[in-house]
Amino acid sequence: MPFNAIPAEDFLNREPELNYLKGLSKLKANALGGDVFLDGARGMGKTELQKQLYRILFWENNVVPFYYSFKTANLKGTYFAQDYFTGFVRQYISFVKKDPSIANNVAEPLQRLMPTISSLGLYWLIDCIEDFQGHVNKNDFYWQLVAAISAPVMAAQKMGKPVIVMLDDFDEAAHLYESSLGDAHGLISLFGESMRNRLCPHVITGSAGALEPIFTDHSLIGMTERMRLGPLPEDLAIALFRAHLTNLKITCAPGVQLEFLDLLRGNPFYIKNLAKAAWKMQKNVITEKDLIECYSFEVSDGETAFYWASVFSRYVKNPAQSKAMLKLLMHAIENGGIEDGKRLSMVSGLGEAETETLLNALTTSGIMRVKDAVLHDFIHCLYMKEIEGRNVSDAREKIEAKYIQEREESCFELVIPMSSNAELVVAKAVEQIGKNINLDAEFLNYLQLALIEVCINAIEHSGSYEKKVFLKFITRPDKLEIIVENSGRPFSLESIKEVPVEEKMRLGMKRGWGYKLVHKIMDSVKVERVNDRTRVILTKNIDNGS
Ligand SMILES: Nc1ncnc2c1ncn2[C@@H]1O[C@H](COP(=O)(O)OP(=O)(O)OP(=O)(O)O)[C@@H](O)[C@H]1O
Ligand SMILES: [Mg+2]
Repeated sequence: MPFNAIPAEDFLNREPELNYLKGLSKLKANALGGDVFLDGARGMGKTELQKQLYRILFWENNVVPFYYSFKTANLKGTYFAQDYFTGFVRQYISFVKKDPSIANNVAEPLQRLMPTISSLGLYWLIDCIEDFQGHVNKNDFYWQLVAAISAPVMAAQKMGKPVIVMLDDFDEAAHLYESSLGDAHGLISLFGESMRNRLCPHVITGSAGALEPIFTDHSLIGMTERMRLGPLPEDLAIALFRAHLTNLKITCAPGVQLEFLDLLRGNPFYIKNLAKAAWKMQKNVITEKDLIECYSFEVSDGETAFYWASVFSRYVKNPAQSKAMLKLLMHAIENGGIEDGKRLSMVSGLGEAETETLLNALTTSGIMRVKDAVLHDFIHCLYMKEIEGRNVSDAREKIEAKYIQEREESCFELVIPMSSNAELVVAKAVEQIGKNINLDAEFLNYLQLALIEVCINAIEHSGSYEKKVFLKFITRPDKLEIIVENSGRPFSLESIKEVPVEEKMRLGMKRGWGYKLVHKIMDSVKVERVNDRTRVILTKNIDNGS
């Protein structure tokens, strides 16, 4: 439905993109380009941009807009051809008559539009419809498709007016089939002719991972350029959220900064859903804590959860695969990615071949690569429910606790090279961090010594090619956590040979005290191996800030 765009004044921050797209037909006429692949995270506004463009072109009258969404399309070839063809004819007449209701009325058969088409003198369109019907009557699968796909080109040639073709979620077209799913490959390449036509610029969207092979295999790429839709800037994201709240008659409590919205990374879809969640949860005046509560609802039961669940359902065929996918995704989140190898079937619980197929599907979908905190929380929530067997409120509580805690913590990250004296920089840094949180001076002294030792250990024994040590200091009102991580040779606490103090004195050893000291002064010392990295986690509980 191209006409259900949001009001132009509510559409934020996409003016340069819209202006560029408006000029596409001129670029194409001059062979300077003309086909655009709109790339952007899910929910970033690709469809909305197409619809806004549609509305502008519709009323400007210089270029005919045609919009088709593959998301909801029936991909059986003959159904698709009929749907695409009638969709185009309706939208074309709608444009000529400047009557949006014609495009919106999807239930009206083409036959009923014939008198209107005649009255407009579009006899070539009547021929076109009859030709298409002829292919249908003859049950000619291939020509039905070709006739449907080339209808915009035909119209542009007959009238001399460019037709801009917007193909939303175009990657789905790779699954067009004849009588059963997967029985016909490459039907998507039939769009090649239309895309090459000088009078028909194309604006397409879809998962980049899925479209890449399509482009390279079928040389559709030709003139296609990529236009990336980034997130809304912070201030506009807040403005959008406030506008949604106002529409829903919800106000913000005095002094609320809406800092929590940073998590949504300027994604208009998430922003809208969070505002709607506040409404569903009957909030009248919203606080930062309410936001966290509404968010936990969103990622467990809200529209965001529903959206991602429906995306996931495309990649799994049964409950076993669904569980396996969740385990793989959770594994990827916890380990900052997924490594190749046979071990993954141990994670998924499926056989190697099935695990690989699932992984390939996830990689193509782009889900695996996405660094999206909201998606991660959705996965975590689902994992807690489906794999750990927790109930919804328990899962939501965990998500909320994480963000309530995060609001109270501050985090410093430091990367040092594996070179001499680099560890002294760490000692200086921890000194200041400790002072910031009023750590006991004596403890701080010991902590500096201990950290120097941990860093030197990483530098000397890891054999890492990366030659870097990553440190993270997380301070909370009740706790200090220090994470030291480096790649290279595994290391465990047991592997550190304890040399008795007398022996050290006798040998004149100045080093090797560190871990003993670390154990003594910290409340917990853990060593983990994550892929090829060793992570040492040191924790100190703090009483009353002392
Ligand atoms: N620039 C914007 N300003 C305000 N609202 C927007 C903007 N862009 C998108 N929206 C709104 O955000 C929501 C998501 O947008 P849209 O459906 O276009 O995203 P998408 O990128 O097409 O997502 P998907 O990947 O699921 O296809 C819609 O409700 C849309 O109206
Ligand atoms: Mg979309």
